[in-house]
Amino acid sequence: MTRKKIVAGNWKMNNGLQETEILINELLAETNHSGCEVMVAPSFVSLKTAIDSLNDNDIEVVSQNVHQSNDGAYTGEVSAKMLSSIGIKTTIIGHSERREYFSETHEILKNKVDISLQNSIKIIFCFGEELKDRKTNNHFNIISNQISESLFHLSSSDWDNIILAYEPIWAIGTGETASSDQVQEMHSFIRNFIGQKYSNELAQKISILYGGSVKPNNAKEIFSMTDVDGGLIGGASLKSKDFFSIVNSF
Ligand code: PGA
Repeated sequence: MTRKKIVAGNWKMNNGLQETEILINELLAETNHSGCEVMVAPSFVSLKTAIDSLNDNDIEVVSQNVHQSNDGAYTGEVSAKMLSSIGIKTTIIGHSERREYFSETHEILKNKVDISLQNSIKIIFCFGEELKDRKTNNHFNIISNQISESLFHLSSSDWDNIILAYEPIWAIGTGETASSDQVQEMHSFIRNFIGQKYSNELAQKISILYGGSVKPNNAKEIFSMTDVDGGLIGGASLKSKDFFSIVNSF
């Protein structure tokens, strides 16, 4: 089974318009990325510029977040409908920073998933456990819960539009990566979990990315694991050389 391989750069709250243009130009100069699909997620203010600059390129521009309503009195928010209007086809949902700092619950994330699919926007759905969960051997429960609460209402065909990203919170931005064995163990658990709810055939088709301190020096080993289909890259996606070195680690 050949699953889609994906490396996505999550720029988080970094890079204004000028920095976006510079980084995008650097990405455009890197032409060698045949081994996987490449995505970048700039901030809302830079999305349109990034889309226009990458127009004829196969690097996809994706959103970091989306609101759970189509429109209305939600000051400061951006809807799936709006994202769709500028050509966004994929959004990240459920990043641990959104869960933690913006109190996004399973229910809110479920609604974000639904509204995105209604607007024909694919989803990179993130989840991950805290260090205390792993230390108390509760990490499999936490992950099952995050996935089932926000995604298990979906139909089998909806899953054509879902990419998963396992991001243990203790490994995000900390320089501490999960070991490749820990990553493989969790990815295989996730695939089985989805297989039990839906079917093995469906589970085998889902791309599961790993995120959490992926760097040029560890990407190859992580990506070599059977159930790892790519990465969601934070810090290292802000430097074009590092990002492309990760992209070319398959
Ligand atoms: P990091 O972030 O690569 O800086 O650890 C990953 C993420 O939050 O997606």
